Amino acid sequence: MEQFLENYGHLGWGKWYDALEKLVKEKRAFLDSAGGNFKTFKQVVDTLPEIDSHTVDPSFDLSSNAVRVGQADQLLPDEKERLYNGLVNLCPWRKGPFDFFGVHVDSEWQSWMKWERLAPHLPHLENKKILDIGSSNGYYMFKMAAQNPMFALGLEPQSAFYYQYCAAQKYLNLKNVFCLPATYNDLPAMNRFFDLVLCMGILYHRKSPVEMLRQIHDSLAPGGRVVVENLVIRGENNSCLFPFDRYAKMRNVFFIPDLSAMEAWLIRAGFSDIRCVDITETTLEEQRRTPWIQTESLEDFLDPNDPSKTVEGYPAPVRAIFMATA
Ligand SMILES: C[S@@+](CC[C@H](N)C(=O)[O-])C[C@H]1O[C@@H](n2cnc3c(N)ncnc32)[C@H](O)[C@@H]1O
Repeated sequence: MEQFLENYGHLGWGKWYDALEKLVKEKRAFLDSAGGNFKTFKQVVDTLPEIDSHTVDPSFDLSSNAVRVGQADQLLPDEKERLYNGLVNLCPWRKGPFDFFGVHVDSEWQSWMKWERLAPHLPHLENKKILDIGSSNGYYMFKMAAQNPMFALGLEPQSAFYYQYCAAQKYLNLKNVFCLPATYNDLPAMNRFFDLVLCMGILYHRKSPVEMLRQIHDSLAPGGRVVVENLVIRGENNSCLFPFDRYAKMRNVFFIPDLSAMEAWLIRAGFSDIRCVDITETTLEEQRRTPWIQTESLEDFLDPNDPSKTVEGYPAPVRAIFMATA
């Protein structure tokens, strides 16, 4: 986290720098004194084998489906065992896959499928300032890092996912990728700062999605872009599904818009040049149970007698990607 300030402190970001410095210090103090899962997962990452003692730096590959670092023969057998056990102790791995020195982490989501739907629509990322809200273990930031952004900054408040990110960075060591164990609300207002904001898998958890989109809009430099990936319902009737209680067994799901409601939200938040670039039904190929999660997955969330519906009787998950300009 501190590396972010060190790298960019000289750029004269004035009040933005001060605000970020305050947040980084708060989060460092939090991590240093945290108990519970934060403490447990930190210890797991600390005990993952170091690679400093090895003469050859591990190479990495950000272009394959799995974010890949190192070769199987770069670790001694006992190091490999410690690596495997440590990675298992960071479960559940929702996003991925990853390949660490030949240990394949087969995550619940085949995140490369979303990446392939998204990547052709992204602007040039070189030297850009990117924010990824709800970055999980950083899978998409690592993918974007291949295009040399100035930085990708992730926000991820959940301990397991934050420390999965730390584990990946222990080996990838990408100098322009950062993550704060913070929520979006923790981030100070950074008006006209970012060139690209990713808001993927977040908005349906918000009670006030338009307010969040407005804040994202204001945080973007003029001409900056937002990627909003969200659950949608099919149709263009300018309406939303608002579940009585759970949706696909998820708590805290509020508005699931149809395509025109999503467009209206983006317009009301101040965006222009709004395009829906993808609509995809979530399949059992993309989201499924693997040995790297211990929880239920998509097949448990769908009606066994009619997989076009969730167990609650709502339309099964469909996700859309919208791009818009501030
Ligand atoms: C459905 S996942 C989406 C992950 C990733 N963005 C993707 O599209 O695959 C939502 C992520 O956002 C994180 N999250 C939840 N509330 C958040 C908040 N208020 N601010 C930032 N991240 C949040 C969760 O911990 C989780 O990792």
